[in-house]
Amino acid sequence: MTSGLLLPLLLVLLGTPAPVAADRGLPDISGAVAAMAAAAGDLPPPALTAAAARAASLAPPPSVVRAGANGTAVISVAGSFHTLFLTLQVGTPAVAISAQLDTGSPTLWLSSALCKAGSGCRDKSKVSAWDPTKSRSVADPAAALAKPIQRRYGDGSTIECVVVEDAVRVAGATIERQPVCAATLMDFPSSPGEMGIIGLGPPQTQDPASLFDRLRTSFVESKVSFYFDRSVGTFDSSLGLVPNAGEVTIGTPNTARYKDDFLWVPILKNSSNWSVKLDSITIGQTRLTLGVETLLDTGTSLIFLDSATFDYVNADMGGKVVNGLYQLNCTKLKSLSPITFVLKGVSFTLTWDKQFFVLGGKYCVSIFTKQTNGGPTILGASFLRQFYTSFDYAASLIGLAQLVDNAPDQTIPGISKMDRSHAGPRARAHALPRAASLALAAAAAVVLLV
Ligand SMILES: *[C@@H]1O[C@H](CO)[C@@H](O)[C@H](O)[C@H]1NC(C)=O
Ligand SMILES: *[C@@H]1O[C@H](CO)[C@@H](O)[C@H](O)[C@H]1NC(C)=O
Ligand SMILES: *[C@@H]1O[C@H](CO)[C@@H](O)[C@H](O)[C@H]1NC(C)=O
Ligand SMILES: *[C@@H]1O[C@H](CO)[C@@H](O)[C@H](O)[C@H]1NC(C)=O
Repeated sequence: MTSGLLLPLLLVLLGTPAPVAADRGLPDISGAVAAMAAAAGDLPPPALTAAAARAASLAPPPSVVRAGANGTAVISVAGSFHTLFLTLQVGTPAVAISAQLDTGSPTLWLSSALCKAGSGCRDKSKVSAWDPTKSRSVADPAAALAKPIQRRYGDGSTIECVVVEDAVRVAGATIERQPVCAATLMDFPSSPGEMGIIGLGPPQTQDPASLFDRLRTSFVESKVSFYFDRSVGTFDSSLGLVPNAGEVTIGTPNTARYKDDFLWVPILKNSSNWSVKLDSITIGQTRLTLGVETLLDTGTSLIFLDSATFDYVNADMGGKVVNGLYQLNCTKLKSLSPITFVLKGVSFTLTWDKQFFVLGGKYCVSIFTKQTNGGPTILGASFLRQFYTSFDYAASLIGLAQLVDNAPDQTIPGISKMDRSHAGPRARAHALPRAASLALAAAAAVVLLV
């Protein structure tokens, strides 16, 4: 195994930071499917119960690491509702926990035996939870008695946790004394939530429990890149986490997954998020000038637009609201107009086949939803998965490149398989101009040592 991950001991503990309002909201999926079924006179679908979610979390899908030259780690990850989950091991004896990879928040927190309150604590009689007061590799068990810090997320989830230093095994290597926030309270708004989040906030944020603060110094290239496998469906809530739904690469981006150059967009330096300027959205012949900040957030499933913008886009698509989701008429999908996002002068287009997902095997749902209460515009995983994306910590840039694999045919419920010949020009998802000055240095061949 490469020793590229043996990290210098470096811990900068800041004062208790203010609560963070990251965003990773997902409307109530089970409720929406039940409502769609009721409206159509169908049998109600099975809901994801808390028990099923916990059962899934008992057997976290393994994250297989393939490491290459320069300490690049290419790691397979699981998926749920388009977002990605990495399984890491924490403490001694090691406990495996699948945690969501989230560019929309800064903190690494994991469920723990310290969890005493909220809807998300595990049933401790059945589960071997990570216990930072008993782990043999914890640096200072007394740290677990500190006053918890609080994190709030855009979907209403609240976490309270204490920062401890313990061994974390990720990407095939052990990081000693990694600061991790051990959950003491996990409160989720409706459906059962995550067992942890790997916050991957941008370089200008500082957090007492940041994983990448330390990882980034260990690789030649200070980047985290994401590949979402579009042939793997992750919207069936009864399955829990779906294995092999994508890949996260730490270090040099995986050249096997993208083609042509990255298009790099600078992030807004005045924001503490991975956010960029969204100049405009064009739908059909109409261009909506926006000039707003938008988050590029792997931890949010859908695309959140402000009310006025959303209403315009949705009117064109004909979506009907059902529990915060917008149901589309499956028979009309092929006539949806292409939608183009202009980020800092560069266009990215989603054609009709990239504007919906299927719930419960039957209901077609828009990838767009409305942001309420003045929350931010978010390009979530439903957008990001159409590209190979790379978050560059050294240069404060986000790169998008074309995927090597084609989007698979989706079956439109009630209709025959998508007929590509009717799909109009299936041109590239977006035309990436050559950004010579920003092009990657000749990418190192990624030697895969499984
Ligand atoms: C490491 O990566 C850099 C930049 O990606 C590349 O130029 C160099 O050849 C790589 N070195 C090795 C040993 O692969
Ligand atoms: C950052 O600046 C942009 C314009 O340059 C503005 O739209 C945005 O609201 C600012 N964000 C914050 C968090 O101040
Ligand atoms: C960016 O992050 C900060 C703190 O993490 C948060 O308060 C703010 O609302 C975020 N901005 C957006 C646009 O989400
Ligand atoms: C969907 O569109 C078709 C074709 O226009 C129409 O016949 C059908 O009634 C619509 N279904 C619903 C549920 O609106």
